[in-house]
Amino acid sequence: MVRQRRNLVTELPGPRSVELERRRTAAVARGVTSTFPVYVAEASGAVLVDVDGNSLIDLGSGIAVVSVGHAAPRVVDAVRTQVGRYGHTCFMVTPYEGYVAVCETLNGRTPGRHDKRTALFNSGAEAVENAVKVARHVTGRQAVVVFDHAYHGRTNLTMALTAKNQPYRDGFGPFAPEIYRVPTSYPMRDPEGMTGEEAAARAIEQIERLVGAHNVACVLIEPIQGEGGFVVPAPGFLPALSAWSREAGALFVADEIQTGFCRTGDWFACDHESVEPDLITTAKALAGGMPLAAVTGRAELMDGVHAGGLGGTYGGNPVACAAAMASVADMEVGDLSAAARRIGTTVGHCLASLQQTHPGVGDVRGRGAMMAMELVRPGTLEPDADATRRIVRACHRAGVVVLSCGSYGNVIRLLPPLVIDEGLLDDGLAVLAGAVNEVLTTPSR
Ligand SMILES: Cc1ncc(COP(=O)(O)O)c(C=O)c1O
Repeated sequence: MVRQRRNLVTELPGPRSVELERRRTAAVARGVTSTFPVYVAEASGAVLVDVDGNSLIDLGSGIAVVSVGHAAPRVVDAVRTQVGRYGHTCFMVTPYEGYVAVCETLNGRTPGRHDKRTALFNSGAEAVENAVKVARHVTGRQAVVVFDHAYHGRTNLTMALTAKNQPYRDGFGPFAPEIYRVPTSYPMRDPEGMTGEEAAARAIEQIERLVGAHNVACVLIEPIQGEGGFVVPAPGFLPALSAWSREAGALFVADEIQTGFCRTGDWFACDHESVEPDLITTAKALAGGMPLAAVTGRAELMDGVHAGGLGGTYGGNPVACAAAMASVADMEVGDLSAAARRIGTTVGHCLASLQQTHPGVGDVRGRGAMMAMELVRPGTLEPDADATRRIVRACHRAGVVVLSCGSYGNVIRLLPPLVIDEGLLDDGLAVLAGAVNEVLTTPSR
């Protein structure tokens, strides 16, 4: 177990990381970038140890993946045991219990007590693609409705579903057809006082006018947008869209790849408003760092696809399934939803006090351990991506890994492992607060 503290012994990145970065430049495609080129040697809990011996606080969890902590002992044991028994058979050839157990767990844990079925895949994007396949197949319709600022992945179909051009889509077209984008609920940028129901009515009016309700196979939505800027819709938005979808005969598909598994203070973000999606996509935190993704949905919909219509060589790999069962057990035993709520309170206080001091902190939002602040030019809604970059860089130099996001690149998001201890979180937040104070009071601004 790595000691849970921040400790820097070189400048960051240190000399070994710099050397590895040089090798990387000559070997790795330029299109694949890293937020912070500090090369990791070891990690546990909420601490990353780099190849130069620096200990960094991880407030990003590898983009919401290691909610149970890096190298969580139960996950490590499960992976070791499983890989020693067998690492792969292909569920489509000779099945195994782990796959079934993960599907049973997802059917039980995801919102709604109705009869469900699950299929497993490798990545979030693959799960989203398969949710769309199911929706189109069972409705016999083609149109997929998505939202401004949405992020659903980088494959051809999911690029089309994703809103932002740079860096996700630029030059990679042509994109899949029959995707329609409508406005979301973005309380900070919507007309003042717009309710969730009004924002839903705005979206629905566009769907009916531009697409036609009878053509819609599914409405695909992140209950809280991730890459788009941790945008929490106004209350009532999700229930209104879910109700409209049901009436229109379209499926309501919740993409909970970033929000799922205790991150928002409940098992799923849909739980907060008792929304029961027809299909739900999950990945990231599901398997504690192993690649695993899922589509879970109403039995009659999931079973509406012909035999052999869903699958893939590695989908539901036995090692990833063993990791998932262990990581879900950690969430249950450690009550990580409650941990996420506690983290949310601490982070929320810190960000709110920064907002009080700095008019450049335009908004503080999020739920549970999925919190963010949006940076603007003081007194306006104009995004301040430059300050965001500088704050993130200052945190990195001080040994705290934070991530930015947002359509305008002006949101700093915090996604700590849910097992982070209080002292470490406080230290990480103090570094962030110092960086915000420094950057937002620099005279050059
Ligand atoms: C909401 C959402 N959907 C889909 C994806 C794509 O997942 P993956 O990167 O595993 O393909 C992501 C990844 O960040 C996501 O946040």
